[in-house]
Parts: sequence; C-alpha cells; structure tokens
Amino acid sequence: MNTVQDHLPSPAPDDTTNDSRTSALITGGAGFIGSHLVDHLLAHGHAVTVIDDLSTGSRANLPESHPRLTFIHAPLAAALSDIDLASFSHIYHLAAAVGVRRVVLNPIDAIERNTLDAVVLLRALAQLPSTRTPRTLIASSSEVYGKSDRVPFAEGDDAVYGPTTSRRWSYALTKALAEHLALAHHEHAALPVVIVRLFNTVGPRQVGEHGMVLPRFVERALQGLPLEVHADGSQTRCFCDVRDVVPALQALLDCPAAIGRVVNVGSDTEISLLDLARLVHATLASDAGIRFIPYHEALGPGFEDLPRRRPDLSVIRSLISFRPKVPLAQTILDLADDIRCRPSATTAATSPRKDAPKHS
Ligand SMILES: NC(=O)c1ccc[n+]([C@@H]2O[C@H](COP(=O)([O-])OP(=O)(O)OC[C@H]3O[C@@H](n4cnc5c(N)ncnc54)[C@H](O)[C@@H]3O)[C@@H](O)[C@H]2O)c1
Repeated sequence: MNTVQDHLPSPAPDDTTNDSRTSALITGGAGFIGSHLVDHLLAHGHAVTVIDDLSTGSRANLPESHPRLTFIHAPLAAALSDIDLASFSHIYHLAAAVGVRRVVLNPIDAIERNTLDAVVLLRALAQLPSTRTPRTLIASSSEVYGKSDRVPFAEGDDAVYGPTTSRRWSYALTKALAEHLALAHHEHAALPVVIVRLFNTVGPRQVGEHGMVLPRFVERALQGLPLEVHADGSQTRCFCDVRDVVPALQALLDCPAAIGRVVNVGSDTEISLLDLARLVHATLASDAGIRFIPYHEALGPGFEDLPRRRPDLSVIRSLISFRPKVPLAQTILDLADDIRCRPSATTAATSPRKDAPKHS
C-alpha cells in the first residue's frame, strides 16, 4: 500500500484524563467539510485521524502539524487494512466523489468510489466486537431525494430518479445505496450509525472546479468575469455555512436518539440562483454581469435539474439544537477572502493554508 502517514504523536497528558474527549477518524478529512470538522474537533480537545487520498482534497486544508492530528495519505480501502477501527470512538465517513459536474464527467470513478468505500468501511466495522464499535456518521446528500417535487423534503419522502441513461442520477443512487447498507448494518448488527443528508453546504476552502455554484460565482466575480447562471436562474436552493454544519455533525453523532436515523442537515432559507448571483455581485461590489447558460451546454444533453430543494428540519430540531447563524453575505465575504489567498491552481495542493500559524 502506498501510504504516507505523518508521525503519530502521543496524546497530550491532559487529553487522557478527560473522558468526554474522543478519538475521531475522518475519512475525506482534507476536503472542504472534512477540514472544517478537523478544526472543530481539534479546537474542542479531541484527537483526530484523517484518511484522505487527496483526489479532490488538499493537505493544505489541514494544520501543517498538530500534536493531536494524524494524517494518512491513502485511499480509504487501502488504509483500512493498516488501522484498528476499534481504537476510535467516533468515525465520520465523508470521503466521496462530490459534485454533479465531477460525477457527470467521470461517472465510473464516482460510482466505484462512493459505493465501494461504504461497503468496505461498514463491513470492517461490522466485524468489530459490539462493545468496541465506534459511532459512525455517514455523509449522504440531498441528491438522494432525486427529482421529487415535494417541498420541503422530509426524510421519509419517496425518492424519484430519472433513467440510468442520465448520468446525473448515479451520484444520488450511490448515496442511497450507502444509506441502505448503513441502515441494514444497524438493523442486523446493531452498528451505531447516523446518516446525514447534507443540503448545499458552503464556505471557505470550497472549490468551484467540480461544479459547486457559490465558489464558481465568487471566483468569477473576483476575476471580473460574468457569473454563469444555468437555465434562467429561477431554480432555488438553500445554502448553509460549513461553520454551522460542522458542530451539528458532531452533536448528531453524540446524540443517542440519532443512532439509526436519517437526518436532513442544512438551511431551509431558499434563494434563487439568479438572486444568489446578484447577492455575490452586491456583496463583492463586482459588476461584470450575468450570463445565462442552458443546462445542455453546461452539463451535457438531457441534464435534468430540480426547480426547488428545501429541507424539512423537524427531525434535526427534535434531536439537537440547530439554528444556522452565519448570514450568506458573510459566507460570500469569507469565501472571497479565502479565494484571494489561494495560490495558483497548480500549487494549491502543497501550499499552507492562510490561517496555518494558528495551529502550529
Ligand atoms: N459540499 C456539499 O454541499 C455537500 C452536499 C451534500 C453532501 N455532501 C457530502 O459531504 C461529504 C464531503 O463533501 P465535501 O464537499 O467536503 O467534498 P470534498 O471533495 O471537498 O471532500 C471529499 C474528500 O474525500 C477525499 N476522498 C475521496 N475519495 C476518497 C477515497 N476513496 N479515499 C480517501 N479519500 C477520499 C477527497 O480527496 C476529499 O478530500 C461527501 O460525502 C459529500 O457527498 C457535501
């Protein structure tokens, strides 16, 4: 196995005396959401191990060195043979091929990655003695609802997919399969899993190249280029800042009543993509205009999109206290600051993050 493992430090003495502190494994921890979760858990005194193959993530998203952080640079399936899953109290499975554009352009990699990683991780967990099984969060997606016309989407709603000849639905199906598998392991082997269906999550460190709309808009606004809105821009989405999402992930995994449940996580405030583009221009004082691009030009012939996607948040609010606080304009400003500080795309994977000294 070709893995690169940063040195494994001993926990600081004060960490071992506090039972509420955990040892967490984050798959995909060098990615956008994962790296914010790393920051959050380290800031709260936990030990964190990250497994990431850096296929879309970046080592620079993580602190350069930290006494409670271990980084394993490897594909998840390969790394699993070298680590003892029972040594972790909590596992966050975030590794995936993410982004509609990436899935449409490279469907085989996305399907295999998202499906096989869930299979091998859950199978390995099911082999542990029940007393030593870590609580495990499986990151799913609002895409699982497919093109259902229900508003809002509640966890028990039917999923509605297009034909298998439309590549777009393969991402949703891989995430739905992982949900089925996790629930089956929960029912048959009492595996303590929580499934979170993330809606559009945004914030610093998110990149636009895989199709995520807000970083695409902000990157173009900063370059003085017109923002590219698909179709007429009337489709609505709900955007939640990653710094609101990450504490909710930890709280859900710590909530006994969430075990075995599927939970929507996100904001329920809708905004049309045209209004989002206008907000980006207003917030960044940019004025390069808006260009409308038909779906078939942007994402290929036959691409289907949803007019609205809003979560029903009753389940999460019955389990934990969850009120997103970061305003969208603030997210745009922080994302713009982050993008301005990024080195050129060719050096991004190795350059330290702009707030790295805080963690040294
Ligand atoms: N960002 C969103 O709006 C959003 C919405 C819905 C669901 N999600 C889910 O949240 C999770 C995190 O998404 P993100 O936005 O941070 O994406 P991301 O691409 O930034 O993070 C994914 C990370 O997983 C790593 N990875 C992928 N395959 C791997 C493998 N086989 N082995 C090891 N590492 C691997 C990548 O290098 C990357 O660092 C994903 O499961 C995604 O499906 C995200």
